[in-house]
Amino acid sequence: MATLHLLVVDDEPGIRSGINRILNNYSVGYPFMDEDFDFEITEAGTGEDAIEILNNKTIDVVLLDNKLPGMDGIEVLEHINKQQMDLAVMMITSFASLDLAIKATRNGAYNFMPKPFTPQELRSSIENVAKHLFLKRMTRKMQEEGKQIRFQFLSVLSHELKSPLNAVEGYLKMMQDRQFGDKLDDYEKMIDRSLTRLKGMRNLIMDLLDLTKIESGKKQRRLRDINLAEIARVAMDTLEPLAIQKGVRVSLHCEGNTNMLADSDEMEIVFNNMVSNAVKYNKDGGNVEVKITDKQQALEIIVTDTGIGMSSEDCENIFEDFVRIKSNKTKDITGSGLGLSITKKMIEQYNGSIKVESVPDQGTTFIISLPRN
Ligand SMILES: Nc1ncnc2c1ncn2[C@@H]1O[C@H](COP(=O)(O)OP(=O)(O)OP(=O)(O)O)[C@@H](O)[C@H]1O
Ligand SMILES: [Mg+2]
Repeated sequence: MATLHLLVVDDEPGIRSGINRILNNYSVGYPFMDEDFDFEITEAGTGEDAIEILNNKTIDVVLLDNKLPGMDGIEVLEHINKQQMDLAVMMITSFASLDLAIKATRNGAYNFMPKPFTPQELRSSIENVAKHLFLKRMTRKMQEEGKQIRFQFLSVLSHELKSPLNAVEGYLKMMQDRQFGDKLDDYEKMIDRSLTRLKGMRNLIMDLLDLTKIESGKKQRRLRDINLAEIARVAMDTLEPLAIQKGVRVSLHCEGNTNMLADSDEMEIVFNNMVSNAVKYNKDGGNVEVKITDKQQALEIIVTDTGIGMSSEDCENIFEDFVRIKSNKTKDITGSGLGLSITKKMIEQYNGSIKVESVPDQGTTFIISLPRN
């Protein structure tokens, strides 16, 4: 049972106690509500008192008489409206002029209840206003959650556009510097890879622009039998320009059957982020080893680097959004601190796990387990 807080504002003590009596032991329930509501009642004899209470106490529903000794009901309503209080107001009044009705409605009053009223009239009005409030709050909550989901979806996709963009930029820079000779043929592989990256980027952008997917907050998942070794290769290609610039060697070792049922875009995100970190936080001339092992029920992915490492305290929070370790060693490395949190969420979609082991100045190992079913 949940409780709605009701404020009765009326200068006649008889009306206040009457309402108290009628709603005592009364509760409201709907099939679509998780629980029934009962009512806790607070009384105010003047508009001034009502405002004092509204400013200091959580109130869900106000039963508001218009004719009050000092400030009148409409003024109380205006205050509620101006403060954008999350509540529903029902006016109770003995003579409702059209003028008053218009003013009240304009200020967001939910309804009118004429005085005098029978217990049954009061109960059914209260039932309606409770339902109205419930739906209003529910709608807002869903809208907020929808926005949140959309925001998460957009931040993941835009984050993942960074790797292919960096790859193409890296290849172009190498060509500009004639790093591998003067002949165009020397760059054929880089041109091919750049075109592949651009195609991947186009697909991601198409997802971004697909409004139906954005509305539902999800990218369509395509589970297929895929070879993780191939995905790892794609990620290694994407990170190659960065690896070349840093003189880091990236190698892949596979043991057994490396196929599983998964969405290749999601797996690419996992590998991109793991290899990107292993190269980025490495030392010049360092190594990265990606190992995929068939463990029957699961595939194990181990990414080891010979980089700057992390202390055990630092390792604790790195999977959270926007967490980056600030030190002399990382100050020139750019990033948004989202890569690992995105990776972890992807892995959790497969009921998998990710762990980290690290020794400062020696290197880091990430261990991922992905169950096969
Ligand atoms: N292999 C690693 N070696 C050392 N530190 C690492 C390693 N991987 C991650 N970190 C630390 O964890 C932090 C979080 O990593 P994460 O991938 O989430 O973000 P990022 O790399 O900073 O930015 P991006 O969002 O571009 O990936 C990094 O800033 C870095 O300090
Ligand atoms: Mg990263």
